[in-house]
Amino acid sequence: MSVTSYTLTARTLHWVMAVLMILMLAAGLVMSDIEDPALKSTVYGLHKATGILVLLLAGFRVLWRLSHAVPAISAALPVWQRRAARLAHGGLYGVMFLLPLSGWSMSSAAGYPVSFYGLFTIPDMVAKNPELAGILKDIHEVSANVFIALLAAHLGAALYHHFVLRDDTLRRMGYRKTPK
Ligand code: HEM
Ligand code: HEM
Repeated sequence: MSVTSYTLTARTLHWVMAVLMILMLAAGLVMSDIEDPALKSTVYGLHKATGILVLLLAGFRVLWRLSHAVPAISAALPVWQRRAARLAHGGLYGVMFLLPLSGWSMSSAAGYPVSFYGLFTIPDMVAKNPELAGILKDIHEVSANVFIALLAAHLGAALYHHFVLRDDTLRRMGYRKTPK
């Protein structure tokens, strides 16, 4: 069955996760430079807990995606653009998992258990191992850079569709009804 827009759940998950992931990126990039020790520890704690929340939402999102129809990428586009869109979307799904999983395992390997907003402590993913923590930190950093590159392409494509091609690509991910 073909559909013309994303389900309300898919749209809501897209925008909630977009905001969370961009805030996570910003926090990750600045938090090691914070001077005040109390503020630094709060931001690290929020970064880790919210990353785990992103992981949970990503899991639910993939299950939802696999069990619901999505609008087809416009057949009017050149083949390379349709391929690039699929590749970028796949990559964005990839970093939704890779970033939290590398962050969580890096914290465990560094010997810092992860608290979920002070409510409970999440089990360690791996045993303490400083050498492994260094490798996982590199993976976390590289994934963050891949995310930045994918996001730039994704945002550029969304704006190009909306303002240059003037098609309904952005609208079908939005909440306003498409004008007839
Ligand atoms: C959406 C998910 C996430 C994003 C976008 C993200 C992004 C980032 C970024 C951009 C950095 C700075 C990397 C650098 O240039 O050094 C960072 C650092 C860090 N992240 Fe994440 N992160 C995510 C999830 C997590 C999770 C789930 C945890 C732990 C449970 C975590 C723990 C850390 C830690 C401890 C650092 C500091 C590493 C260090 O400087 O020693 N992150 N993150
Ligand atoms: C910042 C502004 C953003 C805009 C304007 C935007 C816009 C869009 C649009 C218009 C679509 C629909 C594409 C289509 O129907 O072919 C889409 C899909 C998608 N976006 Fe974004 N997005 C943004 C941020 C993000 C972020 C931060 C992420 C990563 C977490 C993300 C992940 C995705 C994914 C994975 C899809 C594919 C959905 C699917 O078909 O399953 N987006 N986005």
